[in-house]
Order: sequence, then C-alpha cells, then structure tokens
Amino acid sequence: MPVPPVNLRPALAATREDWQRRLEEMFSKGQFILGDQVKAFESELAAAFSAREAVGVGNGTDAIQLCLREAKLTERRHEVITSALTAPFSATGILAAGCSVRFADVHPDTLQMDAGDAANRIRPRTAALMPVHLYGQPCEIDRFARLAKGSRLVLVQDACQAHGARFQGKPFTEYSSRVAYSFYPTKNLGSLGDGGAVVTSSAVVAKRLRELRDGGRRGGQVSYMPGINSRLDEMHACYLRAFLPKLNEWNDDRRRTTAFYDAALRDCPGLRPVKRTADSVCHLYVVRAFKRDRLREFLAGKGIGSGVHYPVPLHLHPAFRDCGLKRGDLPHAERACKEIVSLPLWPYLPESAAHEVVSRVLEFYRS
Ligand SMILES: Cc1ncc(COP(=O)(O)O)c(C=O)c1O
Repeated sequence: MPVPPVNLRPALAATREDWQRRLEEMFSKGQFILGDQVKAFESELAAAFSAREAVGVGNGTDAIQLCLREAKLTERRHEVITSALTAPFSATGILAAGCSVRFADVHPDTLQMDAGDAANRIRPRTAALMPVHLYGQPCEIDRFARLAKGSRLVLVQDACQAHGARFQGKPFTEYSSRVAYSFYPTKNLGSLGDGGAVVTSSAVVAKRLRELRDGGRRGGQVSYMPGINSRLDEMHACYLRAFLPKLNEWNDDRRRTTAFYDAALRDCPGLRPVKRTADSVCHLYVVRAFKRDRLREFLAGKGIGSGVHYPVPLHLHPAFRDCGLKRGDLPHAERACKEIVSLPLWPYLPESAAHEVVSRVLEFYRS
C-alpha cells in the first residue's frame, strides 16, 4: 500500500463546498488583491489565535522579513539569533530584511532552539531573537521572552510550523507582538500556493505591517517608507477561510496519528523519539533513526514516502556562510541532521496507512 509523505486531497475534499462558495464570491466581486476575503480572513485568524490582529502577506519568509522591518531592523549591524535547525527560509527572511544572522544550537532532546545556548551568543550587535516553534511543538517561549526583555532585544516568533499551537494554554502573542506564519500548502493551515501572515497583539504593529506589505503606501499612490510588495491574495484567503474552521479538528487528527506512531514504535530497535509535549500541534512526525538513509530507501522501495527536516544545519549552508560558524560548532544540530526522519503525517491519514508505515519500519529494523 503506497503512503505518500503528505496528501492534501482529503482536506480539500472535506471543505470543497466552502472554498468554492468563497471563490464564487470573489469572482462576482471582481477584486483580487486586498479585498473582502483577505479582510475577513484576517479577523477570523486573529480571533482563532486569540490575537488582536492578523496581517496577511505573501509567504512565511516575508512574514519574518516584515516583522524585522517593522521593528526597524534593516541593517547588517542588526544581528538576529535563530535556530540552526529549521527551514532555510527562517534565515532567508532575516537576510531579506537586511539583517545578519547568527545561529544557536538546539536542545538534543527536543531539537528546539536552546535558550541557554542562545543566551550565550548574545553580544552587543544582537538586535533580535527569533526562536522557531519547530515541528508544531511550541519552543520555550517564556524563557526567550524573559531573555529578550532582559537584554532589550526584539522577539520575533517563527510559528510557520505551529498553526493553532499555544504555549501552556496561552496564545503566542502573549510573549511577543510579532508572530510569523506560513500558509505553504503542507502546513497545518496551508493554502494552494504561497501565503503567510503576521499575528500580533499590537494595533500599531499591525498598522505599520499593512503599510510595509503594500510598498510603504497608506492606501494611495504615495510610498511613505521603503516597504515591499507582499500581500496575501484574495484567492488564497478564500481557501484559508474554508480551512481555518477545520484547523483544530485537523490538528487533533494529526495528534491521533502521532500517538499511534509513538505507541507502535516505542520499542522499535533503531529509533529514538524526539521529545514532544501535549502542546504540540504535530506538524511533522520526526524521530531519530539508526541508518536513516537506508531506512528511507527501504521505505521508498515499499512505496512509503518520508522526509528529512532538515538534512543540513543552517550554519553549514553556503548561503549563510557569513555567520562565521563551521562544522563542529553546533554539535547537537549537526548530529540531529544526520539522524532525523519524518514519517507520513497529514489529516485524514487512514489507520491502515499508519499501520503499513509502522509495520515496514519494524520490518526494516528487525531484519
Ligand atoms: C520554520 C519555517 N520558517 C519559515 C518558513 C517560510 O515559509 P514560506 O515557505 O511560506 O516562505 C517555513 C516554510 O517553509 C518554515 O517551515
């Protein structure tokens, strides 16, 4: 039985009526940029995430970039500390704002950015911290918030993998007023193309973000500040408005499959879990695997897709060479990148498919 790493079709089918109706509304209105759909989606998203406002933008990378620009961090002398184990786009957003990037190591159990290591890397040039809520698991955002406050740093949260997650029951916006989301199709809340948003507890931040995403304009044809062009399309808002009411149900479904994998693979020789708490919205199912690449080849041979999030820590990417770190400098992230594998996970993943994944993994390690 083939099992792809991600399958968006069941979620699309479950919401078809709703998104088709929204698309019809959009066509009859004839407005395709910054119209009623985006406006309504922004209020619905803010309400769902218990935030004051949400600002729709072109993608998650731009959401990060815009958070930094809004905080007036746009120069190379402004250094931003983020995790070495995340999507390269976390760092791309930092560079796009004009800042420089510095990487911190991850905690070996959780693979989240290590607050202690980040604290040790703060220096006079450091202007901001950007922890990532990786794999759907909230990071220790309370510690990062204290650190940012104590060192007078801007705190941007990369929540591009954590839609609907809260930290110990509290919305992320309680910890900082700039939280970046991506709506890349495979995210817990994804569109059918690129999209993103910044969620904020501040009306002032939201107002400036709306100007910055629209070329620095204030509704007319005069540009008041150097902005960018990064607006969420009406079409994406149509899909996202249909998917958002399903987000909690879909997150629960991801949790169910995750719990099944955890239990079924607990005693599997060759696998080591990545620590997760009940707060996680289970974006990815990531484990450490002995002979990871051979396991992946074996699974692929049986029609089972898998992924690696991520194969190379960011300080070793040629694009981020300027960070000044070399192999051996961030040992936990480097080791994790060689061992981690992501098993298939998506809402509506059939039980039979999850059983197939488990039995093939067990077959590999027992043979
Ligand atoms: C942790 C993280 N940060 C940032 C991004 C960038 O989002 P986008 O692809 O929408 O630009 C992603 C998505 O790939 C991500 O997973």
